[in-house]
Amino acid sequence: MTGERKRRSSLIHIREITIADYKEMLALQELCGLHVEKLIRESRPAVARQLRFNRGLSFAAFDRARMVAVARGSFDARRGYIDRVAVHPDYRRRGLGTKVVARVEKALWATGGRYIVVSAIVETGNASSRKMFEKLGFETVPVLYMRKRPPQRSR
Ligand SMILES: CC(C)(COP(=O)(O)OP(=O)(O)OC[C@H]1O[C@@H](n2cnc3c(N)ncnc32)[C@H](O)[C@@H]1OP(=O)(O)O)[C@@H](O)C(=O)NCCC(=O)NCCS
Repeated sequence: MTGERKRRSSLIHIREITIADYKEMLALQELCGLHVEKLIRESRPAVARQLRFNRGLSFAAFDRARMVAVARGSFDARRGYIDRVAVHPDYRRRGLGTKVVARVEKALWATGGRYIVVSAIVETGNASSRKMFEKLGFETVPVLYMRKRPPQRSR
């Protein structure tokens, strides 16, 4: 790592996110190409609920005050989930995605212990995310992901 790169990395810190980070988090997710359902699943009340139910499981990296990477965790008492991982394009390939995911993973193990599995859903064409999770020790399980939305919602 060059001196300049080292100096810049040392200004980056990771902390748990709260609903006060909502706007910045959504902007980062959107910038990173994640589909953001602002009116429904990613609406402020929905995210507040997720963070409340899953306290201590979502983290972001900040360069000074600016959010540059994020990963969210949730837990259903049997399985831990990691999702909405996003790293600002200018900050990629510096290990930040790995760091925020590792923080979420650690928090999930601390919550669920050895009785759970930790999982992440990665779209099949997303080679960078897949590689990152593989490097973190995740294995690919060939399953078909199926879902159903409430009848009144078309998407
Ligand atoms: C996927 C993403 C989160 C990776 O974040 P990142 O901070 O760049 O990842 P890291 O620096 O921790 O990379 C860890 C490893 O993953 C692999 N990797 C990451 N990006 C890669 C890329 N573009 N091409 C190939 N391998 C890649 C590498 O093996 C890398 O290790 P290396 O840099 O030592 O070779 C980031 O590219 C991103 O935000 N993408 C858009 C949103 C997205 O797809 N989110 C995931 C949804 S599941």
